Amino acid sequence: MCGIVGYVGHQNAAPILLEALHRLEYRGYDSAGVAVLRKSGLAVHKRRGKVHEMAARLPKRLSGNLGIGHTRWATHGEPSDANAHPHTDSSGRVAVVHNGIIENAHELRARLAADGVEFASETDTEVLAQLIARAGGASLTEAVRSALTMVTGTYGLAVVDAKHLNEIVVARNGSPVILGIGEREMFVASDAAALVRHTRQAVYLDDGEIATLEPRGYRVTTLDAAPASKRPTQLELADEAFGKGAHSHYMMKEIHEQPDAIRRTLSGRIDRRFATARLDGLELSPRELAQFRRIKILGCGSACISGLLGARLIERLTRVPADAESAAEFRYRNPVIEDDTLYIAVSQSGETFDTLAAVEEIKRKGGAVIGIVNVVGSSIARACGRGIYLHAGPEIAVVSTKTFMSTLVAFALFALHLGRMKDVSLAQGKRLIEALDALPERIAACIADSDHVTRLAAKYAQFTNAYFVGRNEGFALAQEGALKLKEVSYLHAEAYPASELKHGPLALVSPDTLTVAIVPADDLFEKNIGTIEEVRARRGPVLAIVHHHELPAAVDDIVVVPQLHELLDPLPMLIPLQLFAYHVAAARDCDIDQPRNLAKSVTVE
Ligand code: F6R
Repeated sequence: MCGIVGYVGHQNAAPILLEALHRLEYRGYDSAGVAVLRKSGLAVHKRRGKVHEMAARLPKRLSGNLGIGHTRWATHGEPSDANAHPHTDSSGRVAVVHNGIIENAHELRARLAADGVEFASETDTEVLAQLIARAGGASLTEAVRSALTMVTGTYGLAVVDAKHLNEIVVARNGSPVILGIGEREMFVASDAAALVRHTRQAVYLDDGEIATLEPRGYRVTTLDAAPASKRPTQLELADEAFGKGAHSHYMMKEIHEQPDAIRRTLSGRIDRRFATARLDGLELSPRELAQFRRIKILGCGSACISGLLGARLIERLTRVPADAESAAEFRYRNPVIEDDTLYIAVSQSGETFDTLAAVEEIKRKGGAVIGIVNVVGSSIARACGRGIYLHAGPEIAVVSTKTFMSTLVAFALFALHLGRMKDVSLAQGKRLIEALDALPERIAACIADSDHVTRLAAKYAQFTNAYFVGRNEGFALAQEGALKLKEVSYLHAEAYPASELKHGPLALVSPDTLTVAIVPADDLFEKNIGTIEEVRARRGPVLAIVHHHELPAAVDDIVVVPQLHELLDPLPMLIPLQLFAYHVAAARDCDIDQPRNLAKSVTVE
C-alpha cells in the first residue's frame, strides 16, 4: 500500500527512482511522483495515473544525484495531481513521500492554517512537509524528529530538503522502511523488491527509528535521539523473480508457479523416518506445543480464508479445536487471550496493518503467537519472532494465488507436526507425506488442463451476478473463488454455505445468476447435490467443480479435478477457481494485475 523509494549517491537519481517505482507499483497505482534535488533546488513532478504516465511527462534532462519517489494508494484525498506525492511545504524547499496515515492531521492542519499556512492538497502528508519545514534544529534529522513528536499515526517516510544537498532522512512507525547499502550510494524503499537490483545488503528499520542517508553510509537513531545499532542483513531474493517471464500477467505467472511454490514450502521440512514435519522456526518444544488446547488463526482477506481451510485441516488431523477469524474483527472486540490457545497470524506480505495489530494485542495480553508469512523480515514475521516462512517467492499480482496455496501447505506441515506428537500414527503420517510429495505434479496437471476453464470463463463472462456455494471446506473454497472473481473481474460474486441458500439467497437465483458449486466427493456429496437441484429448479445455471465425471443432478458445466488425500483435496480445487477468475477478467478486459481501488499489502487500517 503506497510504495516509497529514495536514492542518494553518484548516479543520476531519476532513472533509478522510476525503475524502482515500476517495481513497487503493485503497492498502489492511482498516482505517482518524484522529487529530484539539484543545486538550483527541488524539481517535483507528480500526477494522477500510473507510473508510466508520470514518467512519460518527465523532462528529458532531469539530473541530480539525490531523489525520492512514490506510487500512491489514496487514503486522505481522492487520486489527483495535487494529492499525489511527493508533497512539499509552501516554499517548495522540503519534500516528503509517505506511506501510512497521520491520525491527527486534521488538528495539525487547522493549527498550521491558523498560522497562515496555505495547503496545496487534502493529504495528511502535506501536513508533515509543512511541519518539517517549520521545525527547528540544526540538521534535517533534527527537524524530522521534532516534527514527528507532534504526530500520531503510522508512517514510513522519506524526506529531502534543498538546504541539505547530500542527505535523505527516513523514518518508520508501522510502515516498512528498508535501507539498501551500495558502494558510495544508499537506497531506501518500502519493499525489498525495489532494492535487489542494486544491492543485497539491507537494513530493516524498526518502529520509532530515524535514519539519515548519505552517499557514504547511514546513521540510525531513535525518536528520542539515542543511537540505534543496526546490523545489515542479506537479501535472499533473486532479481529475476520479479519479472513476468513469458506470461502476460503476474497473476497467470503466479498461478503457474504454484507447483514450485509448494516444493519450496515443503523443502527441507519433511522428516520421512518419523513421518512428521520439521518446523524449527516454530521454536516450540513438543511439550510446549502439546499444552495448547485450541488454535486460533487470524488474517485478512484471502489470508483469513486460508485460515478457515487450515483450521479444518488441523482440527481433522489432530482433533485440536481450531478456528479462524478476520484479524480486523478480532482486534476490535477486546478478545479474551487464553494461555492454552496458540494464535497463528497469516500474512503473505507480513505488513497487513490489522493482522499486525492483532499480533500486538495478543502479545500485549501475554498470548503465544506464531506467524505464517511469505515476506522474510516483514513486520508480522518480526513481531511474531517465530513461525513458518512460506518461501513461495515474491507475489506481485495484487490478488494472491501461489501464496494461498503455499499457506495451505504450511498448515498441512503444521498439522502433521502437531498430529504426530498426538494420536496421528506413523502410517497416517506417511500417507499424508506421500500426498504432499505428489501435490506439485497434481497441481501442475490441473493448470496444464485449463482450456476447458478458459472456454467456461468466456461463456459466463457477461453475467453480472454469481453465487459460489459449498459446505465446510467447500464453503471456504467458495469464499476464495468469489473473492478472486470479484477482485479481478468486478463481477458481483457472493459466497454462501450451500446449506444457507434456501434461507434467503435463493430469492436471487434466476437464469441470469451463475451458481458455482463446490462438490467434492466427500460425506456431504448428497447434500450438495440437493442444493444444486434447488438452484436448477429455479432455472439457475450451475457450474460444478467436482471429483467425479458423473453427477446425479444435471448441471450446465463441470470441471473435474483429481482426488489426492482427504485433507489435501481442497487444494487442486483452487486451480479452476483461480483460472476462472483470471479468464473472466481477461474476457472483460480488466486490469488483472492491478485491479481498480485495490493495492497489494494493506498497511493502513
Ligand atoms: C486477495 C488478497 C487479499 C489479501 C489480504 C491480506 O486476493 O490478496 O485479500 O489476502 O489483503 O494480505 P496479506 O496476506 O499480505 O496479509
